[in-house]
Amino acid sequence: MIEKDSMFQRIPILAKLLLFCFMFLSIFTLAYNVYSKPDDAQNPGKIGGEKLFKANCAGCHLNGQNLIKKDKPIIGSAKLKSKELFSELLNHPPKPMPEFKNITSNPDQLDALYKYVLSLKKK
Ligand code: HEC
Repeated sequence: MIEKDSMFQRIPILAKLLLFCFMFLSIFTLAYNVYSKPDDAQNPGKIGGEKLFKANCAGCHLNGQNLIKKDKPIIGSAKLKSKELFSELLNHPPKPMPEFKNITSNPDQLDALYKYVLSLKKK
């Protein structure tokens, strides 16, 4: 009789324990997902050159070409000889190319974009 009572008492406790573990794990997994997902959110200053290129340049310069003036591609351009020349071009671009002072004013972005554009050249 005593043993039977204790059995009945134990089951709900075990169930509660399991439920507690499950909730703890759920909260942990949720927190892990929230804090670990976006790379960009963790490194807001670190923006990839490829991303910058796709967002700002690829519309006219798909794959380093020039869709508007076919004889002025990025690949092989003399404006890539130095980062200063490249920055100068983005600050004072030939029409109809728009200026990109938002990029040139951010050294990290300029650097990343310049490196990406040079990597296009190598292909
Ligand atoms: C609206 C279209 C457009 C966008 C967007 C654009 N460009 Fe251009 N780009 C042009 C045109 C057109 C030329 C050629 C202008 C000329 O010399 O007559 C050019 C020229 C260039 C040249 C010089 C090529 C040469 O040797 O004459 C480089 C380098 C260049 N663009 C890089 C970029 C980069 C990097 C971006 C993004 C940050 C960008 N462009 C965004 C249209 C665009």
